[in-house]
Amino acid sequence: MGNARLSHILNLDDFQQAAKRHLPRPIYEYVAGAVEDNRSSMANTESFQRYAFVPRVLRNVSGRSGTRRLFGHDYAWPFGFAPMGISALSAYRGDIVLAKAAGHLNLPMIMSGSSLIRLEEAVKVNPDAWFQAYLPGDEANIRALIARVLAAGFRTLVITVDTPVAANRENNVRAGFSTPLRPSVRLAWDGISHPRWLIATFLRTLVKHGIPHFENNYAHRGAPIISSSVERDFSDRGHLDWSHLQLIRDLWPGTLVVKGILHPDDARRAVETGANALIVSNHGGRQLDGSVAPLRVLPSIIAACPGVPVMLDGGIRRGSDVLKALALGAAFVFVGRPFNFAASVAGEEGVLHAARLLSQEISRNMGMLGVCSLDEVDRAVLMREGEEFL
Ligand code: FNR
Repeated sequence: MGNARLSHILNLDDFQQAAKRHLPRPIYEYVAGAVEDNRSSMANTESFQRYAFVPRVLRNVSGRSGTRRLFGHDYAWPFGFAPMGISALSAYRGDIVLAKAAGHLNLPMIMSGSSLIRLEEAVKVNPDAWFQAYLPGDEANIRALIARVLAAGFRTLVITVDTPVAANRENNVRAGFSTPLRPSVRLAWDGISHPRWLIATFLRTLVKHGIPHFENNYAHRGAPIISSSVERDFSDRGHLDWSHLQLIRDLWPGTLVVKGILHPDDARRAVETGANALIVSNHGGRQLDGSVAPLRVLPSIIAACPGVPVMLDGGIRRGSDVLKALALGAAFVFVGRPFNFAASVAGEEGVLHAARLLSQEISRNMGMLGVCSLDEVDRAVLMREGEEFL
């Protein structure tokens, strides 16, 4: 997709429509979908509509800046790329595309542990990338993985804690997506009927890099994506508890972020265990259907963890959503699916375009709110549904 076609993409949701046309249905559904009845995914989007802006006027907003400092780094904007597994199946070398784009834009990119590209390659193209790990099920594997991530040069480690068991992704079953990917006539037809993806992403990957494997769940290489033993890579987390997080804290000298917190008591416990920051998240509504939208619990989690950066993801599609999360106290936000779609339809150029659209929305809306810096975006710019001026 060249610039001409990107010029028709005016917001993040437009990328989803383009990706729907571009990707075979099982892969599109894997990225777009949520779980069971999609209640949490819809709740994430709706949660932002519970708040309205109260703009201020005539404040000379000509010198606006959207920079935000986090872990001693001044990022260009207060958003980053959420970790997404299997990104190299929807976009050619997806993790590398996202890592490079984030580097060019000075935004944080979180490399998923469930990825098909070696973590060492991602940190090579973007030394500021963060790494997200799922906890392997036993101490020896935890130690080995942490040692590998450290040796690769990552400085920020994100531990995702909201996947003790596999989610009930009915939409994947209906669409024919599974891990392991089971070759079928339907899957073959889905590929053939999306030739641009088939040639530029799938066959190019096979020819240049071979059958994709899960590369980063452990210190060693995991199973190929079509192997039936792939389930083993994901099935051993149910018994994990806080002592495993403590072990990671003891092993990891860098910044430790815990992702997937929704209860203030868990937030407090994570910080007591040594987490430097939290990402309030319901995994984009992809784990427990009916779990609360992160925006709703954000203020109570911030109150429970004074002085700790509390970040958020889930349902952010507009600059106005970013600003609402910041107004409620989020230190930073992450965006998932739209950047996956952007990488799918137009590679790095697509991701740069998507990030540019979101940052322009933030800047424009800051102007209309009457603020020049993100530090001025606080609770006073918002009114909650049902709330009135007294
Ligand atoms: C995810 N997410 C995720 N989270 C994580 O910690 N590790 C992972 O490997 C993945 N994999 C993954 C794959 C895909 C395709 C999606 C869409 C999501 C969750 C992700 O990091 C984030 O929490 C949500 O995507 C945020 O919601 P939005 O922005 O997609 O609405």
